[in-house]
Amino acid sequence: MTNFPLDSKLLEQFIRKHEVDLNEIGIRQLKRLVDDFAEHSKTNFLHFEFGVPGIPADRLGPEEEIRVLSEDKKLPSTYPPFDGIPRLKKASAVFVKAFLNIDVLPENCIPTVGAMHGGFIAQAIAGRRYEHTNKILYLDPGFPVNKLQTKFLGLKCDSIDLYNHRGNQLIQKLENKLSTRKVGALLWSSPNNPTWLCLKEDELREIGKLLTKYDVIGIEDSAYFGMDFRFDYGVPGKPPFQPTVANYTDNYIIIISSSKMFSYAGQRIAVSVISPKLFKKRFDNLKKYYDTKRFGHAFVHGGIYPTTAGVPQSPQHALSALFEATAKGDYNYLKRVRTYGNRARKAKKIFAEYGFELLYYKDLEEPIADGFYFTIKRKGMTGGELLRAMLLFGMSGIPMRPTGTKREGIRICVSLVPEEQYGELKNRVKQLDEYLKTTGK
Ligand SMILES: Cc1ncc(COP(=O)(O)O)c(C=O)c1O
Repeated sequence: MTNFPLDSKLLEQFIRKHEVDLNEIGIRQLKRLVDDFAEHSKTNFLHFEFGVPGIPADRLGPEEEIRVLSEDKKLPSTYPPFDGIPRLKKASAVFVKAFLNIDVLPENCIPTVGAMHGGFIAQAIAGRRYEHTNKILYLDPGFPVNKLQTKFLGLKCDSIDLYNHRGNQLIQKLENKLSTRKVGALLWSSPNNPTWLCLKEDELREIGKLLTKYDVIGIEDSAYFGMDFRFDYGVPGKPPFQPTVANYTDNYIIIISSSKMFSYAGQRIAVSVISPKLFKKRFDNLKKYYDTKRFGHAFVHGGIYPTTAGVPQSPQHALSALFEATAKGDYNYLKRVRTYGNRARKAKKIFAEYGFELLYYKDLEEPIADGFYFTIKRKGMTGGELLRAMLLFGMSGIPMRPTGTKREGIRICVSLVPEEQYGELKNRVKQLDEYLKTTGK
């Protein structure tokens, strides 16, 4: 059995060696630090830092990849179409009809190498439609990598704090920002990484109206599609449907990632669904960057072609099979990922029992839902201070500062810590609480 706390001098040495600030540390640096510290202190850590799928992929996907590769001998030597294989384009349109109740054509559905790739191209096109609307506005806190993309593209970044501004306040604040006519796109995820806040239908309706009024593109990053477990969004063709801005504006791109919903992160596949009207629209300024004025054409020939020239075909078949089975009601992915909600509910209880509070605890009038992530805080401590203390007790999570919030705390991702380890979690959190109390926290 490990004795806690671990050696704080050793931890300081590693923090110095890695030249990191625990308040600002990003996920990759943190992984290296935790790996080093865990190895030298011979401790198995409870890894709450990674936002990666923690349940295995269903066999359906890999088996479909194997099947198509073994049956079609020419597949590996054939370049994929830039805009995706017809099967996936069709399956995506059927899927969004079944689960979002929106009508799009197969041509409007474009596979990308993960949602990251879709977000990158969506920003590049949406942010360059007009000379001066080169700002990407975020609903924060959010996924820091999207902002790295904004910087990489030479676009500007702005944000609205989603916790301080909900409902009417959010809409007012948004109108203030959009009326400057400098914003090209609004980007959000709902459920939100890192807080698990979920936008409500009323909010999406008003957001949609403003996107139309000010000609701004909504980039709806559905990395956690259908995963607001308070509702059952898993019955094809039947309400409730996952709320989407697509019901309220023609200025949208919805990015659906296979990574978390189907635990298919390693095969790097997602689909960007572009509003049929927007797809056909022409913008003079796009010509300069993409040799075409047409939005959809710019996405495929100006975006996909020069970046990856398409998506590997066997993962496209896997995602087709998963979409097809889900839309027919033969496969219910939500039954599997619901595990994350159960884990979160139990883990939150343990932290609460030992003096930790939820950093984000309200979703409008309701308590925040249980999902892939939750956030914790300890009175009087910055995220970095809390992380340092957690590391001494064999636990890691990511500090909130890099996600674009001024609130101090830690994001806990429950995906890699199964419930069998919750006895050990309780033991460590209890000892951490006792330790913090001795330091006056
Ligand atoms: C909000 C958000 N968007 C996008 C991604 C990345 O998705 P993908 O693996 O499809 O690139 C993540 C992954 O954590 C995420 O949290």
